[in-house]
Amino acid sequence: MQHADTRSIASGDTQYTKDWFQAHVRNWERWLDGFRDRPGLRFLEIGSFEGRSTVWLLQNVLTQPDSRIDCIDLFRPDPLQGDYHQRFRANVAPWKQRVTEYAGPSAEQLGRVTGPYDMIYVDGWHTAFGALADGVMSWPLLKVGGLMIFDDYLWMPPAYYEASKPNKLVREFWRALGKRWQDRAIARIAAQTPKLGIDGLLRTLEGQYELVERGYQLAIRKTRAFEDVTLELDT
Ligand SMILES: C[S@@+](CC[C@H](N)C(=O)[O-])C[C@H]1O[C@@H](n2cnc3c(N)ncnc32)[C@H](O)[C@@H]1O
Repeated sequence: MQHADTRSIASGDTQYTKDWFQAHVRNWERWLDGFRDRPGLRFLEIGSFEGRSTVWLLQNVLTQPDSRIDCIDLFRPDPLQGDYHQRFRANVAPWKQRVTEYAGPSAEQLGRVTGPYDMIYVDGWHTAFGALADGVMSWPLLKVGGLMIFDDYLWMPPAYYEASKPNKLVREFWRALGKRWQDRAIARIAAQTPKLGIDGLLRTLEGQYELVERGYQLAIRKTRAFEDVTLELDT
């Protein structure tokens, strides 16, 4: 399927039909500052789509010739998104020696990749179970000191979001109380959103991470390896 807003790469141009990433760049610049230009970095991305986040990482953080990224995605033609795999390949072509594709469901592909990773970006399967499964399976692959970023922590299905969004006055009321209207709306359809899965994962990892930031995206830094976690109660 050819999309109207897909630009040609004949002139070395990029091919994107969606921008789900640019809004996060300012946060990523802060969160990933300590990794920028370091040699030998290994990143894992679950959900690469057309490669927008992949390319940003390659251009801005994974800049050294021995830094690499592993990309997991279904990578199969989609009735709505067309052949985004072909667009991914075109977009990452300048760095293709440093990008490894893992095509298929993350639940399968996470058994094939080998860590340890400095950073893991979870942006694939947008249900509570999906986010939980991706987080659980990839956490052991993250180095101590490594960063895990979840996209769409406050995501809701678009039609539901539009129907649930209160007017400005009500939104400001919630903000004045230090609360988010989104939390209540998400709670009503929790299993269909990543938030429940991410919150569940964080509960299981208490004492093993530090929260970097919780907003539309959520970022945590791993502070302890499983080997260093001692249980206080005998089993
Ligand atoms: C929101 S897009 C990723 C956007 C991308 N990170 C960017 O910045 O443009 C989500 C991607 O996750 C993939 N995906 C969804 N469920 C998946 C699963 N179970 N396993 C692997 N990939 C999955 C989709 O094919 C899609 O390409």
